[in-house]
Amino acid sequence: MKRITVAITGASGAVYAQRLLYHLDRSAEVSHVHVIVSAPGRRVLLEELDVAATGDGLARELTGLDTSKLSFLPNSDIGASIASGSYPSDGMVIIPCSMSTIGALASGAVTNLVHRAADVTLKENRRLVLVPRETPLHSIHLENLLRLRNAGAMIVPAMPGFYHRPESIEQLVDHFVFRLFDHLGLAHDRSTMWRGGVRGTGAEGSREGGCE
Ligand SMILES: Cc1cc2nc3c(=O)[nH]c(=O)nc-3n(C[C@H](O)[C@H](O)[C@H](O)COP(=O)(O)O)c2cc1C
Repeated sequence: MKRITVAITGASGAVYAQRLLYHLDRSAEVSHVHVIVSAPGRRVLLEELDVAATGDGLARELTGLDTSKLSFLPNSDIGASIASGSYPSDGMVIIPCSMSTIGALASGAVTNLVHRAADVTLKENRRLVLVPRETPLHSIHLENLLRLRNAGAMIVPAMPGFYHRPESIEQLVDHFVFRLFDHLGLAHDRSTMWRGGVRGTGAEGSREGGCE
């Protein structure tokens, strides 16, 4: 059973975090999810999803599920369990990840629990998946992202695919979320694998697939 940390920072794309938490909560492989939301992250949850709750109410509002494995930690709690490398965590995702947080992580400047938990994940050589969202990107953004990649983070920009022909935003987002499951080493029953060309040949493959 795995313990995953999810941080929500103040970039656009709160729906990605919402769907990731929903599916992590339902995953038989995941025993617990620690969630941290930065203050700008809360602002974006309100702007984009009308979610304003705190504590357990936030878990319910975000996932729509009653029996939740989610526990929320204050971003100011630099002494939380996940702030220590001795706590056995199986990986962390920052989704969406602002360029501000990317800059902090790339510089090693740790000022809150999101930064600390991510810094610990890197130093312990565990899976750190960053889902940055900004456009366009200037050279400082790009250099910071490269530094983090070189330090071992997976950079998975919020760039959903369309080859599976999503018919709703939920389908579009969920396909992206299950690619994150792949990066976290978590099993799932959704096909995100491209099985070869289909259009024009009628031979192999399926529209449920996708190539990455
Ligand atoms: C509605 C809204 C949308 C935003 N979208 C982005 C974004 O897509 N990318 C980004 O890097 N910053 C975005 N920002 C700015 C960040 O919230 C800001 O830089 C903040 O300091 C990030 O802090 P945090 O990383 O601690 O959450 C947005 C802010 C607001 C209010």
